[in-house]
Amino acid sequence: MCGIVGYVGDRQALPLLMEGLRRLEYRGYDSAGVAVIVDGALAVAKRKGKVRELESVLPAPGLPGTVGIAHTRWATHGEPSDANAHPHTDATGRIGVVHNGIIENAAELRRRLTADGVVFRSDTDTEVLAHLIARRTENSLVEAVRAALGQVKGAYGIAVIDAARPEAIVAARNGGPVVVGVGDGEMFVASDASALMGHARHVAHLDDGEIAEVRADGFSVLTLEGAETTKATQALEGEVAGFDKGDHSHFMQKEIAEQPEAVRRTLLGRLDHRFNTAHLGGIELAAREMLDIRRVKILGCGSAYYAGTLGAHLIETLARIPAHAEPASEFRYRNPVIEQDTLYIAVSQSGETFDTLAAIQEVKRKGGRVLGVINAVGSTIARECGRGVYLHAGPEVAVVSTKTWTSTAVAFALLALQLGRVRDMSAAHGARLLAALSALPDQIASIVAREAEVEPLSAILARADHAYFIGRSAGYAVAMEGALKLKEVSYLHAEAYPASELKHGPLALISPETPTLAIVPNDDLLAKNLSTIAEVRTRHGPVLAVTHEGVPLDGVEASFAVPKSEPELDPILLNIPLQLLAYQVARGLGRDIDQPRNLAKSVTVE
Ligand code: AGP
Repeated sequence: MCGIVGYVGDRQALPLLMEGLRRLEYRGYDSAGVAVIVDGALAVAKRKGKVRELESVLPAPGLPGTVGIAHTRWATHGEPSDANAHPHTDATGRIGVVHNGIIENAAELRRRLTADGVVFRSDTDTEVLAHLIARRTENSLVEAVRAALGQVKGAYGIAVIDAARPEAIVAARNGGPVVVGVGDGEMFVASDASALMGHARHVAHLDDGEIAEVRADGFSVLTLEGAETTKATQALEGEVAGFDKGDHSHFMQKEIAEQPEAVRRTLLGRLDHRFNTAHLGGIELAAREMLDIRRVKILGCGSAYYAGTLGAHLIETLARIPAHAEPASEFRYRNPVIEQDTLYIAVSQSGETFDTLAAIQEVKRKGGRVLGVINAVGSTIARECGRGVYLHAGPEVAVVSTKTWTSTAVAFALLALQLGRVRDMSAAHGARLLAALSALPDQIASIVAREAEVEPLSAILARADHAYFIGRSAGYAVAMEGALKLKEVSYLHAEAYPASELKHGPLALISPETPTLAIVPNDDLLAKNLSTIAEVRTRHGPVLAVTHEGVPLDGVEASFAVPKSEPELDPILLNIPLQLLAYQVARGLGRDIDQPRNLAKSVTVE
């Protein structure tokens, strides 16, 4: 949430900052701004709206200078406006601050500063910091920022520049991700290493409670208490191509199409045909430890929670370990019981979701062990967990998750297979699953290639104001994810319900105007699903179905059949048409597909 980028070196800062902002825009996109030190003074440009709006107000010659910071915002304190856009400055315009997070005692600090004669020009909590830093008298910027942060409560990732001390950017972290990027005679700061791909060679991740002084020739890190710390750097890996739409109209469309490759990478090196099992080295669990697991609890938010719901189903079905998923955002507020023999699994594509991080910290504080299922390598949650499974799905730029949902589901299938094979799953069952997993990429490709066949379903949904998505058992996880996808990108109201629960209330809302999309695999619950469809049809509700070939769907308005897999893996394929459906409906309605209103890719605030 909110993207930060900073540059100090001998190249012109502005083009690099703007490139970084374009890459980080998915973190927040209600306003954007940049500050560059030009001839000993701060030159600031900021604008409500997207990065392209900022581009339109930049002076034609640019902002000539080699030190600068920039920000793309997802508003918390103060509505999106030019004035509330970052960077914020002090009264003299010397100090520039960009911030991701929330300063909890901002109101109190604001009152004190106002009583001291400070005039505020924005409604943000961040502006407080600029004034606090400017009033410090320490000799160096890093000491001034450190002292100012001593007065602040809350969560932040910040970058600060001082026109009077142009040799460094100061960055600090307490709850908001900050990385330092190391280039050749130049250095970077960012909220997300992806902003630095193609420029920085190595990155160092700041930990909470650390502050860095970043100069063109290197960087040093202190704790907020002032103790020196050493930071290891890691090579920055990844492809710049992930941030380019290529021939696609939207990143969402591109990322749906990339799923065969993403799944191949998730599977790569993890299928053990010798023992008919999977091998996930990163989980660091010996067979004996796997045998000792009595329960699995999966924690994640939004799509990650829904993928975790399917994951719990896979683990319980294949490994016969009781497994349950819970929204990470709720978990820590109910004083959860943490058990030694429970395996906790945190799911997050970004690895930066605050609620998920806080849930992990609650588990660890009470002595529980946590594995991560994460896409972003080196992210905060990955480092907090210390062990787990990387998805290797590649960067996901569209705000809505598509390929990472699928790769997460595949990673859970691998984990369930590995856990199952140290328990009671037969080698023959393991071999069937390995074959089915290997077939997934081509099966997904065949669904994506039939995108046009989803159009009859999307045409019906696009005319509705409300829709139900129903499924049974693992199909309910698919229904939840499908409904969320439709809500996020099309802004239509879609509600997921367990098919079995429809008759316990929501049936009252079924009418010819309210379509129901049913997940109808050809499995042992088929007869039950067909009965539910009949109940909806009897109330004149239009029914759409995502199903398998050969399923008798009388009276259904439109349907799409996916290729058959092993029953446990069917939900992964049944979800793909729902992604296409959401995309088509949103496109038909002219929505901002990659950056839906009010959302951001990673939610790093509570
Ligand atoms: C997915 O389409 C959503 N944008 C959202 O629900 C997301 O899955 C959730 O915020 C969790 O994000 P994470 O995977 O980065 O932790």
